[in-house]
Amino acid sequence: MRIDQETIERIKQTAQVADVIGDYVSLKKKGANLWACCPFHGEKSPSFSVSPAKGIYKCFGCGKAGDAVRFIMDIEGLGYGEALRHLAKKYSIEIQEAPMTDEQQLAQNERESLYIALNYAKNYFQNNLFTHEEGQSIGYPYFKERGFSDKTIKAFDLGYSLESWDAFTKEAIKQGYNIDILEKAGLTIRKPEENKQFDRFRNRVIFPIHNVSGKTIAFGARILKTDKNQPKYLNSPETEVYHKSHILYGIYQAKNAIRAKDVCYLVEGYTDVISLYQAGIENVVASSGTSLTLEQIRLIARFTQNITVLYDGDPAGIKASLRGMDMILEEGLNVKLVVFPEGEDPDSYVRNIGSEAFMQYIAEHSSDFITFKAELFLKEAGNDPFKRAELIKDMVGSIAKIPDSIKRSVFFQKTASLMQIDEGILISESNKITLERTKQKEKDSQRDANRQRLQQDLPSGVSLNSNPSLPPDDVGGGMMSFSEEDEYVGDYPVSNEPQPEPQKVAPVYTATTLHELECIRLLVNHGTKEVDPGVAPGVTLMQYVLGEIDGINFSTPIYQEILTICREKFLQGVVLDTAYFISHHIAEIQNEAINLASEKHVISEEWMSRHEIFVPTEEDKLADMAYTNILRLKKSFNDEYIKTLMKQLTQAKDPQEQNRLLSLFMEAKEVEKQIAKELGTVVVR
Ligand code: CTP
Ligand code: MN
Repeated sequence: MRIDQETIERIKQTAQVADVIGDYVSLKKKGANLWACCPFHGEKSPSFSVSPAKGIYKCFGCGKAGDAVRFIMDIEGLGYGEALRHLAKKYSIEIQEAPMTDEQQLAQNERESLYIALNYAKNYFQNNLFTHEEGQSIGYPYFKERGFSDKTIKAFDLGYSLESWDAFTKEAIKQGYNIDILEKAGLTIRKPEENKQFDRFRNRVIFPIHNVSGKTIAFGARILKTDKNQPKYLNSPETEVYHKSHILYGIYQAKNAIRAKDVCYLVEGYTDVISLYQAGIENVVASSGTSLTLEQIRLIARFTQNITVLYDGDPAGIKASLRGMDMILEEGLNVKLVVFPEGEDPDSYVRNIGSEAFMQYIAEHSSDFITFKAELFLKEAGNDPFKRAELIKDMVGSIAKIPDSIKRSVFFQKTASLMQIDEGILISESNKITLERTKQKEKDSQRDANRQRLQQDLPSGVSLNSNPSLPPDDVGGGMMSFSEEDEYVGDYPVSNEPQPEPQKVAPVYTATTLHELECIRLLVNHGTKEVDPGVAPGVTLMQYVLGEIDGINFSTPIYQEILTICREKFLQGVVLDTAYFISHHIAEIQNEAINLASEKHVISEEWMSRHEIFVPTEEDKLADMAYTNILRLKKSFNDEYIKTLMKQLTQAKDPQEQNRLLSLFMEAKEVEKQIAKELGTVVVR
């Protein structure tokens, strides 16, 4: 359902940031702000600050920042819409559902119907287990044999599917469920040509799969006796509400414990999760036998930065999992590994030795990934110098992926002593790798940008006021992608899943990027202010800047995204203010705004002198600042345009085409001169 804008506003106004956060941590007043130990990362002294006046929080340790809604999204692991509902409930605000377009209604209804059907199926299978004679004589004893208590069975909603071709489908239809929906939910399989329909899950014990907020979205089903002709586990297919690569089994049951213990144990199987949970180790999730994905890592990262991978002792499986380790490192998380004795998995092992001994085993046998890799491969390499060199390269490759330089250096030291090699060599090797990766990335993005530019039809008129670079309807690289779980709330589609974190690759700061940043900074901080009350009373900075850079698009996706939002709203007659961006539901935009608003943007001296970037005291110099920035943006874009023209000139064969390009080129050169002259006369001090 869609929440109407008015209700969203009411929720945001009612949910005072300090009151909302106060439910989770105890806040202490110090100056204008309130402080606490950050609930998102482990720390001993408080670096998490809440500003009731601005309605925002920011952790100076881990960088998490946002408003009350963002806090609930992050701490509860909810989507934007869900977080709003959560807050509405807390403050007893009734939610007015806004009308949706027919298309939204259909999509929404279908997803809702799938959830309802899946929930019905979950209850049905559970009923079989507890009340049906077959469930009682076959399914229930199976779980008991595996040592699952009733409490555990209920905590995971375990169930049983009868030995029948269509018992479930028949009953569901009798209860009024639509056969199309049952099929789309992956519960019923249809063979229309034979006019047949039957249950996907038959004669198996059932493991419902929940999403973060506890809704049943799929099932795993285990066969009871071994049968060579049938797979041990049968799982739901991908559906509108189930994307296997986005979910981790057990996340709903584990999320609070993961945050509290500040570590997530990652296992392979359903039964590993359940047995550990029953043994009191609740911070555990499973990748369900597939290799780890980026989405799954990010799901964990909502609750902790620490992952300990628990694998059974099968070397092939371990090697296959190394790629997953690198991905975890690349996301900036910490990873440790524990290997169990041959033939044991976490499920069997915890039942064998009990939870206390199990925890002790983990404490004694968890190794960081570098030690782990070294031990794993050193045996193989023996004294073969080539193999050892390969191994060292491989380890350095992994370390180079860690975004944090302090963590990196710890691992260099470790590797140096483990492999008996000079640390300096490792570091220079790593620098080489990083440089190559950066170059490759630059090449990739440059190639994309060039391709895009060259495809544009060149406009004929080039003047100061109409920028030559890109046609106005090109909105540049859109970086927000919305998953199929999108939910419509208010003005924008909002994903249930967290928005992708900004790429952790260190941004390449070009002069253009910085001019773009400065422009966005002005718009976000001062958009509503009169730019020059003396000369043009009533003209906002937003109006002035947008008018001047009409037709210019930014090369940095996040800035372009913010610019587009400003433009769209401005066309509707709305001048957005700082508060709007600070409470924006897209995390990247919100973060950007908070950073721009909460600290005066500091650009290093070196950059300032090298690129003539100037950050004066604000407010009273808005007109000069805006004008200077506009000129610099125009200069940047004109420079790009000149480069493109030169390239085209060298490639043009047809003399007529050459002439055309040449005159454009000369016009652009003239523009360059004009801008330089203007820039020279603006007081920028
Ligand atoms: N799996 C699967 N399909 C299979 C085999 C395995 O989807 N045919 C997934 C399941 O999620 C399973 C996980 O991979 O939980 C790990 O597989 P495995 O170790 O074989 O299963 P266990 O969880 O140990 O199950 P059990 O102890 O019941 O044998
Ligand atoms: Mn097992």
